[in-house]
Amino acid sequence: MFDPEKFIESTVADLKTKLKGKTVIAVSGGVDSTVAAVLADRAIGSELVAVYVDTGYMRKNETEMIDKLYTELGLNFRIVEASAEFFAALKGVIDPEEKRKLIGEKFIRIFERVAKEVEAVYLVQGTIAPDWIESGGGLRDTIKSHHNVGALPPDMDLELVEPLRDIYKDEVRKVARTLEISVAERQPFPGPGLAVRILGEATPEATAIVREACAIAEEEIDKAVEEGLMEQPWQYFAALLPIKSVGVQGDVRAYGRTVVVRAVQSVDAMTAAYSKIPHSVLDKISIRITNEMKDVVNRVVFDITNKPPGTIEWE
Ligand code: XMP
Repeated sequence: MFDPEKFIESTVADLKTKLKGKTVIAVSGGVDSTVAAVLADRAIGSELVAVYVDTGYMRKNETEMIDKLYTELGLNFRIVEASAEFFAALKGVIDPEEKRKLIGEKFIRIFERVAKEVEAVYLVQGTIAPDWIESGGGLRDTIKSHHNVGALPPDMDLELVEPLRDIYKDEVRKVARTLEISVAERQPFPGPGLAVRILGEATPEATAIVREACAIAEEEIDKAVEEGLMEQPWQYFAALLPIKSVGVQGDVRAYGRTVVVRAVQSVDAMTAAYSKIPHSVLDKISIRITNEMKDVVNRVVFDITNKPPGTIEWE
């Protein structure tokens, strides 16, 4: 039986012996990196510099939320606004693995830049077990290169420390609750962000569409869960498909984009079942997306694929 108190105690003690100087950590506002940061902060305090990179592929209001969260947690943190750099790197790129590798590489380069500035020697990451298992960590074929594992460049000159690499999400959440971290129940969000929820080129325009669609799907599902209409899904979001279809707007022909709504139940992301969302909720999501993005989206579909054979994200 996993004991979060013991895990916290032994991990903080272990980090105290491993981290012998300035350390940087990649924080995203998600439960994994936030837990890793709080544990490292307990071990070495202000020797830790938590770095949040705004890649431009973050969710609606995410950067503001994160600023507030880390200020409240008392972390020594900084925000790096790098969206222009990421958009430029992904220009013209449509292959999902290439996107992941480019984003991962950029991430690490930015950390290296900050790390040099603060003369850091160590890099802490919130990698959890399924991240490296699914990135071909020896047990399985490479399904996707998770940006915090697969794309680490070989010449990285920081020593990598991963305090959560042997535990699973439900255990990380238990640790987060014990540490009283407000994002304990937050749904997972992939490292490459909205870029892997845009099939095809992840342009700023496409990002704006999927960001709004994700926000609408999240809001409506959160509301439905609160009202007791459905179970809390493990993850719920929208993705933007690289196809257009014919529709009608008023009585005029429209040729618009397609948004897919994805929601799944899972325990550890290794397998998942699509969420049985009530039709009344799907209705609200569909109407809001097509009304609020009238000029660009004219079709909303719901993904009814389990994992396997699907994965949770579309890329
Ligand atoms: P898939 O799509 O492979 O995703 O079923 C399994 C879980 O991992 C998340 N995910 C990522 N997490 N870096 C991460 O930290 C990544 O590159 C990444 N890609 C996918 C995904 O959202 C799901 O929770």
